[in-house]
Amino acid sequence: MEARHQFGSRLGVILASVGSAVGLGNVWRFPMEAGRGGGAAFILVYVIFVLILALPVMCSEFVVGRKGRANAADSFKRLAPNGSWSMVGYMGVLAGFLILSFYIVVAAWTLYYTVESLRGTLIGEHDFNLFYSDFSTDTWHPLLYVFLFLVANTVIVAGGVQKGIERCSKWMMPLLFLIIVTLACFSLSLPGASEGVRFLLYPDFSKLTIGVVLSAMGQAFFSLSVGIGCLATYASYFKRDVDLIRSSFVICLLDTCVAVVSGIVIFPVVFSIGASVDAGPGLVFITLPHIFNLVLGSSPVANYLFSALFYILLLVAALTSSVSMHEMVTALVHEKFRLKRPQASVIVAVAVMVCAAACSLSFGAWKDVTVFGMVFFALFDFVTAKFMMPIGGLCFCVFVSWVMKRSVVENELCGSRSSRTRRVIVSVVYFFMRAVAPLCLLGVFFYELFGR
Ligand code: PHE
Repeated sequence: MEARHQFGSRLGVILASVGSAVGLGNVWRFPMEAGRGGGAAFILVYVIFVLILALPVMCSEFVVGRKGRANAADSFKRLAPNGSWSMVGYMGVLAGFLILSFYIVVAAWTLYYTVESLRGTLIGEHDFNLFYSDFSTDTWHPLLYVFLFLVANTVIVAGGVQKGIERCSKWMMPLLFLIIVTLACFSLSLPGASEGVRFLLYPDFSKLTIGVVLSAMGQAFFSLSVGIGCLATYASYFKRDVDLIRSSFVICLLDTCVAVVSGIVIFPVVFSIGASVDAGPGLVFITLPHIFNLVLGSSPVANYLFSALFYILLLVAALTSSVSMHEMVTALVHEKFRLKRPQASVIVAVAVMVCAAACSLSFGAWKDVTVFGMVFFALFDFVTAKFMMPIGGLCFCVFVSWVMKRSVVENELCGSRSSRTRRVIVSVVYFFMRAVAPLCLLGVFFYELFGR
């Protein structure tokens, strides 16, 4: 049998996992949610959810993946051969597939905006509402970009764990950090900067409704890629010397930093002309290009650079995240059907293309085709964010802390470090996996079902 792939270095592990976590969720969705949820008030709730929910789920995924050493479904099967726990893995892979199908549509818009910003088309006053709706509601044009994005994605996944995913994360993630810091510095030098930063730092608790709290939880799951076995798949390629707890903390920290810094990039620009911060999904594709022109219109070079760098940032973030979703589905197809990795990745890509087309058409030709009152794009988003991710997260925590032997789990989490502090940290994380995270998730679930 072919030897299982592994990440080559610990840095590669961190960069690939951060690559999965940092994505459109950070740059596109987080500022929009924070804008609606009262700035710092939202961020505070978000950070609490990261610590009490996302982190324990992430550690559980890492344990399942590294101990199981297979795709998400088979890892469960190996660890508990007599149960139906592998269903959790299958559900996760399905969720990954569905998320990828709508995610890639927004990634395709990003690719289009990147190309247009590099061509200089975004410079000068346009009606960006029209620019965005002309493109997103068209039938073939967005599909062409979905296809191109998917090709790039498939080439990376087909390349393998070390030569594809790790190699591209190793240069793309540093590039992403460099761009975002450059943009933040630039943004902070704008006239409206202090107001934008104040908005991010001063909490407006009056905006904190139960709906906002729940969306902060959904955002934490989505942004950290947890609950569907995506990180479990990556962990199946970790070597024994990777410190699971430390890696989880680093990933959560970097992901949250990128999200907050994205806010620092976006809000000063928005505030400098007094535009609304809760402009919704159109913020990045309609409001921002318009504002770039207003704020930087007097200097075409700065305008060109800022908008091109911004969309390249978004593109890189989207690419490394979508690769991780593609990888988890490919790993399953590759191992289950004993296909070669490139073949498996192409088969997955074809299937994704079909579902992504349905999501893309949701904005145009199929805008009246609805299931439970939702177009495909919204349906996939709703089902995965409201049900599959939280249920998956709950199952991962319960499996690791109630079904697996405690000594085995502690051994995975402690690694070669058995200092007192380490044992205390592991006990705390274990308690969160066993009680706090499951109770919270059940509470949210019952509220969603009966409380509204
Ligand atoms: N975390 C990614 C983002 O923030 C999205 C994602 C979700 C990636 C689930 C993998 C799995 O954009």
